[in-house]
Amino acid sequence: MFYLHGTSRINDLGHLEIGGCDTTELVSQYGSPLFVYDETYIRQIIRSYRNGFDNSGLQYEVAYASKAFCTQAICRLVEEEGGSLDVVSMGELYTALSASFPAERIHFHGNNKTPEELEYALDAGIGAFVIDNFHEMQLLGALCRQRGIFAKVLLRVTPGVDAHTHDYISTGQQDSKFGFDVSNETAHRAIEQALQTEGIQLIGLHSHIGSSIFITEGFALAIERVSRLYEWAVNSAGANLSVLNVGGGFGIRYQEGDTPLAPEQYIEAIASAVKHSFDQHGLPLPKVVIEPGRSIVGAAGTTLYTIGSKKVIPGVRTYLAVDGGMTDNPRPALYQAKYEAAVASRMLEEPVETVSIAGKCCESGDMLIWDVAIPHAEAGDILAVSCTGAYNYSMASNYNRIGRPAVVFVSGGEAEEVVRRESLDDLVRLDRIPARMQTPSLQK
Ligand SMILES: Cc1ncc(COP(=O)(O)O)c(C=O)c1O
Repeated sequence: MFYLHGTSRINDLGHLEIGGCDTTELVSQYGSPLFVYDETYIRQIIRSYRNGFDNSGLQYEVAYASKAFCTQAICRLVEEEGGSLDVVSMGELYTALSASFPAERIHFHGNNKTPEELEYALDAGIGAFVIDNFHEMQLLGALCRQRGIFAKVLLRVTPGVDAHTHDYISTGQQDSKFGFDVSNETAHRAIEQALQTEGIQLIGLHSHIGSSIFITEGFALAIERVSRLYEWAVNSAGANLSVLNVGGGFGIRYQEGDTPLAPEQYIEAIASAVKHSFDQHGLPLPKVVIEPGRSIVGAAGTTLYTIGSKKVIPGVRTYLAVDGGMTDNPRPALYQAKYEAAVASRMLEEPVETVSIAGKCCESGDMLIWDVAIPHAEAGDILAVSCTGAYNYSMASNYNRIGRPAVVFVSGGEAEEVVRRESLDDLVRLDRIPARMQTPSLQK
């Protein structure tokens, strides 16, 4: 069943409306496919996280994990809502800075930050680096010494908790490319080394335990383990720590059966685990940072497609093709992600057939949804796929030389284009033809 998130509703014409805008009109105006973001809903979610923390009395930062969807407009929105930003590349950092996002509210993640990226971030004066490995620690230390400065750093540690959806696994040693392992004391060595590295100032610890998490027990266990390490760092290694970053991973409702908690509920559980663990260790309460990505923009995003061809294989399946696919949403092909869809112009009509939604790429695996019940739909109808706000546009590609869609923010009946559609010229703008292959027509 198609779930109406945020400000989505069915209007008097029986059309899907988001942010007070009729989605069929949005497609007429901005073309198809089209990403539509419910701006009011995004703001509401950020405020819910902040409310949760305000109620807890803890010092905090809500740092939007920009990898989920990184554009200048979303950076501005997060800034307006008092959020911070987590970036993982020079490109994400550049996007944020070019949108006048305050550098001191940005922290930089990544397991292989290049020297150029570190230098760029140092020159920009970002708030903190989340150091992932010894190589980076040395590199950053050396760059800071060259500049005669100290960079604030957190160490990313792997506490041996792997949480996904309704489950969490407590593992002795985590098989992950990220961070310093707590179980075999690599994290302890990293803390000692950080304290000895001139040029860096260790201010806290970071962990991120997974994605699409619907329960809080994994966070509580990770907080308990990391706080033990934090206590060791302060009392045995002599560190002066004040920040605990517990990462992101809060789940959203992609489809029926998904049961995420409200932002306030996650925060209540995290705050209580932090207070409990830090009290037990006799430590002053830290500033708590969270890094939600998916849960801030995921359910606020909807992709609108135009339906095209239909292939009926009697007794087998009906394929309904749309004018996008794995280029704007690689998640079903990458990890069998599931989505819900509705015909935006026929929201009040009863489902009459079960179809599978195919993309237009030259790949059999380019399927967006298997077996969805929809009303009778024809070529030209608009198909809405919900919950496409996170890791869709940001993972989009130009496979088959298909341009990326436009993105609009909608709110209060107004739509604003925040990323324009890629044109054919955009698709060839980086191409070069070697001189020996030039033809007279190209020299014009
Ligand atoms: C370190 C870190 N923080 C935050 C996030 C955001 O996670 P989510 O979008 O599930 O909230 C990720 C996602 O991969 C991550 O690796």
